[in-house]
Amino acid sequence: MTRYDQIQHALAATPKVWLITGVAGFIGSNLLETLLKLGQHVIGLDNFSTGYQHNLDEVQSLVSTEQWSGFHFIQGDICSLDDCRRAMRHPRNQTGTVDYVLHQAALGSVPRSIADPITSNATNVTGFLNMLVAARDADVKSFTYAASSATYGDHPALPKVEETIGKPLSPYTVTKYVNELYAEVFAKAYGFKTIGLRYFNVFGKRQDPNGAYAAVIPKWTAAMIHGEDVFIYGDGNTSRDFCFIDNTVQMNILAATAPDDAKNEVYNVALGDRTSLNTLFDALKTALLDCGVSYAKIPVYGDFRAGDVRHSQADISKAQTKLGYAPIHRIYDGIDQAMPWYVQSLS
Ligand SMILES: NC(=O)c1ccc[n+]([C@@H]2O[C@H](COP(=O)([O-])OP(=O)(O)OC[C@H]3O[C@@H](n4cnc5c(N)ncnc54)[C@H](O)[C@@H]3O)[C@@H](O)[C@H]2O)c1
Repeated sequence: MTRYDQIQHALAATPKVWLITGVAGFIGSNLLETLLKLGQHVIGLDNFSTGYQHNLDEVQSLVSTEQWSGFHFIQGDICSLDDCRRAMRHPRNQTGTVDYVLHQAALGSVPRSIADPITSNATNVTGFLNMLVAARDADVKSFTYAASSATYGDHPALPKVEETIGKPLSPYTVTKYVNELYAEVFAKAYGFKTIGLRYFNVFGKRQDPNGAYAAVIPKWTAAMIHGEDVFIYGDGNTSRDFCFIDNTVQMNILAATAPDDAKNEVYNVALGDRTSLNTLFDALKTALLDCGVSYAKIPVYGDFRAGDVRHSQADISKAQTKLGYAPIHRIYDGIDQAMPWYVQSLS
């Protein structure tokens, strides 16, 4: 039995109170679905800036009425300290306090931060600090937050090991690195324990395919389903460590329930694989064909994009050793699982 199996059994036997910020977004709504299916009490905070009510509605349709009754949603903004404090109290739970915080709310996307660094900074830095203060004052058991592989910046080494980072290449990276610095300082100044999860490219159902800042897998999948051109920045040999959402959910639950000696650390969340954009294009095309959608166009190549790193691949041994991380979904399984959802949602 893996550590993840053991923890799921323990949680199902003794439900806890969780706070998920960014609950209406891609990763947040997948965390919500898993935790409700485990019978947990969940408070969700979101301001719907990039998340959607329809993500919450979809989760409701996938869980039982009893499981859904364990969810309490607060529409609010992490830029407001009052909203963060409000989210630390569960109105229907006996103890009223939050056990575990999974802080996901942020404005993602490197290009968005280049276009508007002030708004990204407000949410990702001020909002993060508000959440840290509110969680510290509420005396939560643990605080797990979404960091980013972007923090490796311009450092060329592969695979990426947590201890070795380069210089930031975008305002987004600065904000995510500042999160790590604040977390470190909160440990030193207040003894407040956190875990940062440096997500590599996460993908799966409910990842938004729309808008200028959509991630590559949903964006290309949507273009292919609609018979539109797929644009590749650069020569297509740019590579990423694509991580299926179920692995990311696993890491959040492992991190939240980690022993104290695994806290005050950051961990890579990925597979330890590297897939080029050209290979990804072919994989998506094949998976779509398996779902009955054929795409005949070839990609349109353009300039490299400012702020993008060329290659990314994680060393996941720290997460395996200290948290018992055991990713079971390789990239192709993940694409096969996600594709029917995209075909159904976008056709
Ligand atoms: N998806 C990835 O590949 C990836 C990679 C690295 C890091 N991350 C980080 O993971 C987290 C979740 O990303 P995602 O892909 O689910 O993005 P997402 O945009 O789908 O979800 C983010 C959620 O946060 C909410 N939010 C934003 N600003 C808020 C605010 N001020 N107050 C309250 N809620 C707010 C949004 O409405 C949205 O529901 C983010 O912190 C992101 O930076 C994601």
